[in-house]
Amino acid sequence: MSRNNALRGFAPLNWIPRRARSTYHCEISCDDACFRPAPNHSGNEPFAAILNRRISRRSLVRATIAGAPLLALSTSPLGSQIFGSAPLSRQAEAASSTIGLQSIPHDNEDSINIAEGYTSNVVIRWGDAVVPGAPAFNLNGQTAESAAKQFGFNCDYNGFFPLLPGQSRRGLLGVNHEYTSGVDMFPGYDADNVTAEQAAIEIVSHGLSVVEVTRGEDGSWSYDASSSHNFRITGETPMRLTGPGAGSLYTITIADPTGVDVLGMFNNCSGGRTPWGTILTAEENFNQYFANAGEDTRAARYGIPEAGSRRHWEDFYDRFDMNIEPNEPNRHGYLVEIDPYDPSFTPRKHTAMGRFKHEAASVTLSDDGRAVVYSGDDQRFDYVYKFISNDRYNIFSRSANLDLLSSGTLFAARFNDDGSGEWLPLVAGSPPLHTWTNAGIATFTRLAADAVGATPMDRPEDIEVNPINHRVYIALTNNTQRAEDAVNGANPRGPNTHGHILELTENGGDAASRRFTWDIFILCGDPSDSEQETYFAGFDKSELDSISAPDNLAVDVNGNLWISTDGQPSKLGQADAIYVVPTAGPERGRIRRFMTGVPDGEMAGPEFTPDFGTLFVSVQHPGEAGGLDEPTSTWPDGEFPRPSVVAAYKDDGGVVGT
Ligand code: FEO
Ligand code: CA
Ligand code: CA
Repeated sequence: MSRNNALRGFAPLNWIPRRARSTYHCEISCDDACFRPAPNHSGNEPFAAILNRRISRRSLVRATIAGAPLLALSTSPLGSQIFGSAPLSRQAEAASSTIGLQSIPHDNEDSINIAEGYTSNVVIRWGDAVVPGAPAFNLNGQTAESAAKQFGFNCDYNGFFPLLPGQSRRGLLGVNHEYTSGVDMFPGYDADNVTAEQAAIEIVSHGLSVVEVTRGEDGSWSYDASSSHNFRITGETPMRLTGPGAGSLYTITIADPTGVDVLGMFNNCSGGRTPWGTILTAEENFNQYFANAGEDTRAARYGIPEAGSRRHWEDFYDRFDMNIEPNEPNRHGYLVEIDPYDPSFTPRKHTAMGRFKHEAASVTLSDDGRAVVYSGDDQRFDYVYKFISNDRYNIFSRSANLDLLSSGTLFAARFNDDGSGEWLPLVAGSPPLHTWTNAGIATFTRLAADAVGATPMDRPEDIEVNPINHRVYIALTNNTQRAEDAVNGANPRGPNTHGHILELTENGGDAASRRFTWDIFILCGDPSDSEQETYFAGFDKSELDSISAPDNLAVDVNGNLWISTDGQPSKLGQADAIYVVPTAGPERGRIRRFMTGVPDGEMAGPEFTPDFGTLFVSVQHPGEAGGLDEPTSTWPDGEFPRPSVVAAYKDDGGVVGT
């Protein structure tokens, strides 16, 4: 198909969301984010409305149908208008990246399928022993005491930490456990009559696992259930708040008058590694765990239920009931720092990086050595954030670096229609935040970002810094509620059924810059469907594969972007998958499908070993559409579905993707 034909279908899609997941699963994973109205913003005019007066999807249609030179789209004046202008330096691209693998077809098979020349194996599964001495998993005999020592439910983020510098065949794998769903965990589960033991099991099945993993002579990976390095973090683990929100009037509770000591973390979606070797894990849809917010408008901005929760934990624990502990939800929704090398390290919830539905964290250093952390707020019409630490990275003191994320400045992103952008500081006392305190900003970050006029985005998911070209990639998974007349340059489709990926360049290439330029890298969808508006960095779409719902990102040694998806079963009728796409050279934008997941299981948490010879991936919620009693998948063992981590590697032992 010519690109003219492919770009012709800019008519409204009239797409109606189709529920592949049950109402129960939608509520229990993300509080029904796709179908619930987005929590109200403070009433500032959505930036989309401003952009809409100038942006010109129609002008793009006219121009492309009239025969605009399509391959020049991203750098032409038209491309600059629609997709953002590119600084001159970007026209002189970095060296081409090469991908050696052949794309595989999409499927719905109940197996992990992978590109020719590659193999994958299951490393660890829900219920496997983590803490030495943990009992074997017994589906029909689950207890909270056992679950607290076993691999938790719904693995998501993976972080690989060598035990010796540069080691790629042995290390620690830190894996978080995003959420639980009783219908997928307990035979005969009755969601309306949750038992105290079920609630207790679910609480400790959240959190994070650290296990020692080793690569064998045959290339496969296994974990050591007897390793003294292994430990669990659960929804009961003591943690400490740091930063301006710690110990404030917003975080003190009856159980904790200091406002500093918190039990557990919930709904940890993705995460990131720090340069000093710790995990940042991101509390995402924490709102759904709490109940009885009533008319609290700030709680409403976070989507906390006005009355009872779907999980019913408030029936057994005061801390989940806002009638008893109104401040408890303010102690969740943070980036949490965990030391994978030290089980005794008390996890730190860093309030300085804001409280919102953090999808992930991408950590880098500014030119002057300060820590910079990018993080997206995964809600329709919410924002992209960046944190810059006050202090500099200390190459001589790891313990000093553990305090870096406790103080600094948080910014929210404004994407201008002309392809420029600005990081808006969230600082108490500066207009329009002159009546705010820093504790208030740290705790009610969404409302502060509303006030400064950040750009409402199409569900910001993972953000990844590409160390090869120094650009920042932002996955926006979809937004079926963006109206056709409310698009903007950075979110150009309404509704946005399939999501897109932005490419951001900090001015001067410095992560601490206050200004940036941006471009659209990929508009996801089915490139063979002329009714869909898709774009793949200008690459000829006739050769490309379909992709929808981009979620997590990783970057390989050649600067290629790896993408995991969450939502293709409902969007494209195919299993979620892992894709790879070059970011430079003549194949920039040529997307390939590398690995496919199993029915109704998202692919999450792609993570390379330091030698880029292995890619770890989480297969989350396999077969969940039917629950445990009628699962749509029985992966990985053919008995019942078990969320698991897999390792993928090249049969010849080489670098993945080459
Ligand atoms: Fe848990 Fe935004 O995915
Ligand atoms: Ca997820
Ligand atoms: Ca995710």
